[in-house]
Amino acid sequence: MDIQRDADLQPFNTFHVAARAARLARFRSVEELRDLLQAPELKGLPQMVFGGGSNILLTRDWPGVILLNEITGMEVVEETDEHVVVRSGAGELWHQFVTYCVGQGWGGIENLSLIPGKVGAAPMQNIGAYGVEIKDAFDHLEALRLSDGAVVRFSAAECRFGYRESFFKREGKGQYIILNVAFKLAKHPQVHTHYGSIKHELEKRGITQPSIQDVSDAVISIRRSKLPDPLALGNAGSFFKNPVVSAELADRIKAEYPDMVSFPAGDGQVKLAAGWLIEKAGWKGFREANLGVHKDQALVLVNYGGSTGQAIYDLSTRVLESVKEKFGVELEREVNIV
Ligand code: EPU
Repeated sequence: MDIQRDADLQPFNTFHVAARAARLARFRSVEELRDLLQAPELKGLPQMVFGGGSNILLTRDWPGVILLNEITGMEVVEETDEHVVVRSGAGELWHQFVTYCVGQGWGGIENLSLIPGKVGAAPMQNIGAYGVEIKDAFDHLEALRLSDGAVVRFSAAECRFGYRESFFKREGKGQYIILNVAFKLAKHPQVHTHYGSIKHELEKRGITQPSIQDVSDAVISIRRSKLPDPLALGNAGSFFKNPVVSAELADRIKAEYPDMVSFPAGDGQVKLAAGWLIEKAGWKGFREANLGVHKDQALVLVNYGGSTGQAIYDLSTRVLESVKEKFGVELEREVNIV
């Protein structure tokens, strides 16, 4: 059994903050996972699963076990003239899975190219970008139920996906370990190019009839231009969610700031761009010692090297408070805080 004691977690979180775990254990199959869960050495310890460590901020050492999901493999489990259902092990890198599907000509997740992290983490927070969320292409997943060790299948409805939300982040938190995820992808795909920056990037490239490969290439180029590469600069993508507020509050802000960025969110509600709010509150490009707010995308907090998780958390509190004071809008952290 692959169990390490007093493990360094710095290589396993994309913020690159220093933290230690009492135990670190890897599993490559459901059998190995079951063995680990029975291991006397790990009994009674709090557990946490790490995917790519790309949506987490460690503010302290972890007194329990970190389980590293390394279940790999991709296979087609259903096929018709129109669709394939393709299943991936939760330990595959998300972008490698997207690249494989795009390469096969299967459409549905190309807008989600280059998102860091592993496949198993994707349903946890219903990852989304450029007008698509995984719920749009999700078919089912299988997860190990910790209470009895059974493998349980979840449909999309059972995952209760919302904006950066799912059953696994709320009611089911800490009760399941995702083993594999299956997506229903189209063999004759329709591309989704309504998101402003994709449209703009395709126009720039002179592409009028984009293929899913063109969309994937455009998304990769937009992400590279705006979002820092976690290998080069510690970060966990968007640190906050885009807030949904009443139309009345949005109107009040707009009256003062006619360039306010917003999207209709139904039910008299409006979604605001948190990046815009944070920028207007004066934080974009802010740097203090070894941490800051990214210069091209104010939603992203960055560790220039050597910052602690607690210091990054404290900066996020200052950002929250200043946006609240300036706009009366309550931001919510998107990153999981440990
Ligand atoms: N904006 C600003 N200033 C900024 C950042 C953004 O004014 O510093 C404005 C932009 O000009 C644009 C609007 O805000 O008008 C939206 O910006 P962008 O398209 O960059 O997207 P976002 O809402 O800031 C969300 C996701 C990203 C995802 C992008 C693209 C959330 C919390 N974030 O960001 O997801 O890549 O849309 O679809 O929903 C992530 O979750 O980690 C992530 C990176």
